[in-house]
Amino acid sequence: MRTQIAAAATLLAMVMLSPLTPASLDARQQPASLAPYVPTPLDVVHRMLELAKVTKDDVVYDLGCGDGRIVIEAAQRYGSRGVGIDYDPERIAEANAAAQRRGLQDLVTFRQEDAMTADVSEATVVTLYLLTSSNRKLRPMLTRQLRPGARIVSHAFRMGDWEPEETQSFEDQRGNTRTIHLWRTDGTVRP
Ligand SMILES: C[S@@+](CC[C@H](N)C(=O)[O-])C[C@H]1O[C@@H](n2cnc3c(N)ncnc32)[C@H](O)[C@@H]1O
Repeated sequence: MRTQIAAAATLLAMVMLSPLTPASLDARQQPASLAPYVPTPLDVVHRMLELAKVTKDDVVYDLGCGDGRIVIEAAQRYGSRGVGIDYDPERIAEANAAAQRRGLQDLVTFRQEDAMTADVSEATVVTLYLLTSSNRKLRPMLTRQLRPGARIVSHAFRMGDWEPEETQSFEDQRGNTRTIHLWRTDGTVRP
């Protein structure tokens, strides 16, 4: 629990200290930062995909995809199609390179976009590693766009007063306590 609070505090501190957006973006069109880049360890990624019960029939979206590892692992392990969205062009370049190295270009796509305004309507699984406040901001668009039965899995952070269907806490391979949450959409738009 203490490790988890420390991890959340680190992420929050990084948000406050880091520039809001990548310098390469035009100042007039800079989207707001939802979280700094901190990758989810691969063993935790695998737990997130297991919690969502991803299959080859799923379309997995990672909002703030970093180096693309979540959709890449989903494609590699389960054969699912995936879309990663990040506003940072460096992350998108890394994700595309990783997909190419793994020969997964036909299954995964990476888009440089603001997650807040993305079209996620085809997703059956959405993954998040942002912040509680950012999850809360995304909640209206997620519940408006996603079809009933879609799953949302968040690493570490909850989504306001929307109670998760399931929460798992476990020790990762480095001995750090991790928590992941699962929600399932039911057609109710949650503002
Ligand atoms: C904590 S990292 C998570 C990376 C990846 N999902 C993972 O779990 O390994 C958050 C990511 O969100 C991206 N991000 C922050 N604000 C964003 C926004 N408004 N739109 C799209 N991506 C954003 C950052 O560039 C960063 O790569």
